[in-house]
Amino acid sequence: MDNKQHKLATRLIHAGVEPDPSTGAIMTPIYQTSTYVQAAPGDHKGYEYARTQNPTRTVLQNALASIENGKYALSFGSGMAATDAVAKLLMPGDEVIVANDLYGGTYRIFTKVFSNYGIKFHFIDMSNAENIRGYINDKTKMIWTETPTNPLLNIVDIEACAKIAKEKNLLLVVDNTFASPYLQNPLDFGADIILHSATKYLGGHSDVVHGALIMNDAGLEERLRFIQNSCGAVPGPHDCWLVLRGIKTLHVRMQRHCENGKAIAEFLRSNPKVGKVYWCGFPDHPNHDVAKKQMRDFGGMISFTLKDDNLDAAMDLLKKTKLFSLAESLGGVESLIGHPASMTHGSIPREERVKNGLVDSLIRLSVGIEDIDDLIADLKEAIG
Ligand SMILES: Cc1ncc(COP(=O)(O)O)c(C=O)c1O
Repeated sequence: MDNKQHKLATRLIHAGVEPDPSTGAIMTPIYQTSTYVQAAPGDHKGYEYARTQNPTRTVLQNALASIENGKYALSFGSGMAATDAVAKLLMPGDEVIVANDLYGGTYRIFTKVFSNYGIKFHFIDMSNAENIRGYINDKTKMIWTETPTNPLLNIVDIEACAKIAKEKNLLLVVDNTFASPYLQNPLDFGADIILHSATKYLGGHSDVVHGALIMNDAGLEERLRFIQNSCGAVPGPHDCWLVLRGIKTLHVRMQRHCENGKAIAEFLRSNPKVGKVYWCGFPDHPNHDVAKKQMRDFGGMISFTLKDDNLDAAMDLLKKTKLFSLAESLGGVESLIGHPASMTHGSIPREERVKNGLVDSLIRLSVGIEDIDDLIADLKEAIG
């Protein structure tokens, strides 16, 4: 169903999905096949080999493109596989300007893998997009950002980055994992490529690892599709189906993530044992106005420290919560608590982390959609 005229809540459920032509099944089947029979060489129904195309994946990709207001989407075996494909657009000698607060795995693939192929990455503070200009030279090809950032919830002005990217003929990539398409659509602000770890809010149930890229430019889609088919980072059909099922409830889940996130952020701020609270919905967040401009709400990701950056107390708290489970990842229906310095961001050297504000005692919450009274009671009990 091509339903760009429908509102997001309708598109999340229907976009890209048609009843199965052979049976009328309302749910897209899991096409668990590696190949497709041809009547004669080259005479086929649009599907030849499952690394290249799979009908379950096609439906998901059409849905992803629609919900991000894009023309094309490619889905991948993981968020990192999607990152890998985008980085393979680059050539030795090229330079990339990257936000300095971002997922540790993205930092790792850039510094430990792609820098070995002669690509240079500048990690910079993008809370003021104008900072980017100082790092642009004739080798610069790409700007890479996340917003809100992981784990410090900084906000980067996508429109301002896009203006610089267009002016200097650079590609702007926005990792939209933390916001999800429910809160923010970066292509609408001029981004060239949106990246998702669909493992998170899009899947929504902590039961699948998946990645996605969404774009408007046909040439870019062709290059990325070629890279994906050549390198092979494709998702299995069952995983595509899980993500397709997950996105049907994205809007109702996100609504509750946002409500619960706000209540927890306010609770933490009012707790005398808590130090700094990082959440982009606070009116005194440094880029709250930008968040209001480009996001529809502020999400359920929050980071905080305890008073005096008390590391021992933070470690203790991580062991004490009962509803907030200590685990990597985010964006599922269940609440998670994590310690970025040793978990999601352990691959960033300490000196680099601390310089950017990611201190050892920082705790990150992915606020789920459980009853808010229970979540607050859990944190209150653990903070003591
Ligand atoms: C913001 C962000 N981008 C990308 C990734 C990588 O995605 P995946 O774990 O699906 O490979 C993650 C994973 O935590 C993430 O948080």
